Amino acid sequence: MVKAVVAGASGGIGQPLSLLLKLSPLVSELALYDVVNTPGVAADLSHISSNAKTTGYLPPNDGAKAAFKDADIIVIPAGIPRKPGMSRDDLFNINAGIVKGLIEVAAEVAPNAFILVISNPVNSTVPISAEVLKSKKVFNAQRLFGVTTLDIVRAETFVAELAGKSNPQELNVPVIGGHSGETIVPLFSKVTPSVTIPDEKYDALVNRVQFGGDEVVKAKDGLGSATLSMAYAGYRFAEKLLKAVAGVKGLVEPSYVYLPGIPGGKEIAEKTGVDFFSVPVELGPNGAEKALDILGDITEKEQKLLNAALEGLKGNIKKGVDFVHTPP
Ligand code: NAD
Ligand code: LMR
Repeated sequence: MVKAVVAGASGGIGQPLSLLLKLSPLVSELALYDVVNTPGVAADLSHISSNAKTTGYLPPNDGAKAAFKDADIIVIPAGIPRKPGMSRDDLFNINAGIVKGLIEVAAEVAPNAFILVISNPVNSTVPISAEVLKSKKVFNAQRLFGVTTLDIVRAETFVAELAGKSNPQELNVPVIGGHSGETIVPLFSKVTPSVTIPDEKYDALVNRVQFGGDEVVKAKDGLGSATLSMAYAGYRFAEKLLKAVAGVKGLVEPSYVYLPGIPGGKEIAEKTGVDFFSVPVELGPNGAEKALDILGDITEKEQKLLNAALEGLKGNIKKGVDFVHTPP
């Protein structure tokens, strides 16, 4: 019996993500929360003859609390998306407050839920979430995840194209760091099964993974950012987590987590100098059971990418933490 909540369920990501969760045999109850249109989205999805009982909630009458109450997993794609010319950090002023408000509700009525943050800038909204949960004394780092799966999905696709592999999902392409531009660090030397990236194609491939989001923002030409690929990525991560919680062993996926609160993470935090960082995480009944250190023997080029990522991340993390303690 799993109660899943989508906050921002009427949006470009929220609707297809809710559809995928409605189809999941792992979900028995699906609560949709948004500031608009959730009765309609919920009514529509509720006609699908799958397991999950689906309900929609709006802000009046403490709708958020009713939606989140006793949730097992809360997925948050609420907030504004980018337009051409914007960075993810440009979304901070609006999305920071939205995420803070939603996490406050989660802390109150679903303190044990697994929380998956999709809203950008992820590099800052996850630190915001952690600080809010800490201030409410319900923070468990093993249960808070910044969803960076879309970077892995893109890396799988682009590497497969280049290496002539017919099934991208047979590749495991680790992407670590954060979720914006240069903070995204693909580790092509650690792809399994291994692939050879020709030297002259390396920089362009790195750039495409780091700026894949911009490719979609540009193509959508003012109408938003990635929604369908993100719904897939968000579902892929949620499904893996729910399977691991149900007892399936050996499931690993990178996620942007608070390292000091996860077994194996402290050492990585000491090595990198940042507390929030995306690394492959072993999933299990408690959520993030172990942060895996894959930073050993990376190439010189990857080390350079990592150094640039860490510089950017430090500022993004501080901005999120400061927002909670000294709001503007
Ligand atoms: P969208 O505008 O289509 O949908 C956002 C939804 O959030 C809207 O339905 C809106 O009504 C709702 N919302 C706004 N304030 C809310 C609140 N206080 N409570 C509940 N719902 C609220 O945007 P989208 O394309 O779905 O993108 C959503 C977010 O996801 C953006 O911040 C975007 O940058 C981010 N995103 C992240 C990734 C990632 O890889 N992590 C990928 C793509 C997009
Ligand atoms: C993405 O990577 O597609 C998302 O973070 C959305 C964006 O703003 O690019």
